Amino acid sequence: MIAQHFLKHMFLLSICTTFLMACKHDNQQAVSVAEKWRPAYHFTPDSMWMNDPNGLVYADGVYHLFYQYYPDSNVWGPMHWGHATSEDLVKWEHQPIALYPDSLGYIFSGSAVVDTGNTAGFGKNAMVAIFTHHNDKMEKAGSSVFQYQSIAYSTDGGNTFTKYVGNPVVKNPGIRDFRDPKVFWYAPGKHWVMVLAAYDRTKFYTSPDLKTWTQSGEFGRPGDDRLWECPDLVRLKVEGSDEYKWVLITSIQQRAPNGGTGTAYFVGDFDGKTFKGDVKKQKWADYGTDNYAMVTWAQTPGDRTLALGWMSNWLYAQNVPTTRWRSTMTIPRELSLVKDGDDHIMVSRAAAELKALEKGKMEVSNQPGLLAEDAGVHQSKISGKLTSTSEDVVFRLSNGKGEYLEFGYEGKTRRWFIDRSKAGVSAFYKGFASRHYGPEMPATKEHPYEVYLDATSIELFVDGGKMVMTDIFFSSEPFTRLERIGDGEVELEVFYLNNQD
Ligand code: FRU
Repeated sequence: MIAQHFLKHMFLLSICTTFLMACKHDNQQAVSVAEKWRPAYHFTPDSMWMNDPNGLVYADGVYHLFYQYYPDSNVWGPMHWGHATSEDLVKWEHQPIALYPDSLGYIFSGSAVVDTGNTAGFGKNAMVAIFTHHNDKMEKAGSSVFQYQSIAYSTDGGNTFTKYVGNPVVKNPGIRDFRDPKVFWYAPGKHWVMVLAAYDRTKFYTSPDLKTWTQSGEFGRPGDDRLWECPDLVRLKVEGSDEYKWVLITSIQQRAPNGGTGTAYFVGDFDGKTFKGDVKKQKWADYGTDNYAMVTWAQTPGDRTLALGWMSNWLYAQNVPTTRWRSTMTIPRELSLVKDGDDHIMVSRAAAELKALEKGKMEVSNQPGLLAEDAGVHQSKISGKLTSTSEDVVFRLSNGKGEYLEFGYEGKTRRWFIDRSKAGVSAFYKGFASRHYGPEMPATKEHPYEVYLDATSIELFVDGGKMVMTDIFFSSEPFTRLERIGDGEVELEVFYLNNQD
């Protein structure tokens, strides 16, 4: 039965591939747009399984996006690093697979840096990937030290990598979950720093040369039963001041605000060795269900911090109804900090580069009722502001199948929400059809909002990015109508979005 299903799947896949090859477009993303559920401007692998973004690094005018990839199936398996590049964060080009599993194990998540000072001796400006080797054989044999950190280097701008002969560079000290190294250069100390997830905490290591690492500290929540993954440590400016704070981002595998996996953060300080912050003040970078493993680009020009997340949730990522490929990345987002009383909030906004996606404004009404009937709403940006009201403001996107997706603001509870309970296909996971709430917002008069829609995803940014919700959905036909329910005072503009010239 399973074999038959597999053969059928492979047969369909080969027809599909032949058809796509026959189209003979240069830009694979352009070929893909016609496929059901394929987003127009979000990154997806051309085919097969993808999870976390890895090795985000800017080198020589190019943004590199490596990612957890299994080229032999549309579910998770022996991990490779897939690779894509972009000059503008808007158009992505698929590149050959960068890292393959080897005798030390699968290639799990990690990061990449450009070694401008040639500290490792691989060559000036060598690109160095730092990743977890996950040794499946050892795990199956009952070992608990099957994850360790290794490096590989590229001297041709990330096209080909050579694994370092001295791997692993960080051995496992006896912790089952010991992975996802994120590395950056700490200029004041003239050393590299590695942030590593170690079950319920983050460990910090330093190195002069990317090859020898010494543990320098740890931060975490011993006793909390939740698993931390894919950490990152970034120095962010507090907007409107000269102050900088450090933010430890960490993904957490259980009990995110709307269930399953989510990306969290702590605001604090870093002395080059360890992060200091209040472990009780853990915040969520995203209140939706679908932004996991969010990490930042290394060595971005200017004082900018750009991040990307995997737009799915481990609760159902392997069951979503796309078959040729599985999973999408979020839009690239710019991170910064704003003051919030004595505290700080990390804000995320769409990267400014995404302005280039806007291909004209849609004619819309801003009165309650039908706002627009237009095939373009499916791939659009809706932005404006609500002026404070105790009423509910609900936006509804719908199609001719009676399916609809709603998002909006509940005046009485002061919470934003996304409701995908009637948005289409959901039987693949019990609980997928659900309504998700953000936190209670302060009682401000105006509520600016910005929403990015792209075939199967909605990314909602509120109050200049202080509250973000990212959700995926699978309508059986594209949404073509936009309506507004409720009388609140609303400003609204809608832009057509795509990444074609
Ligand atoms: C997070 C994660 C990482 C791991 C990778 C394996 O989604 O579980 O911790 O390195 O996926 O694919």
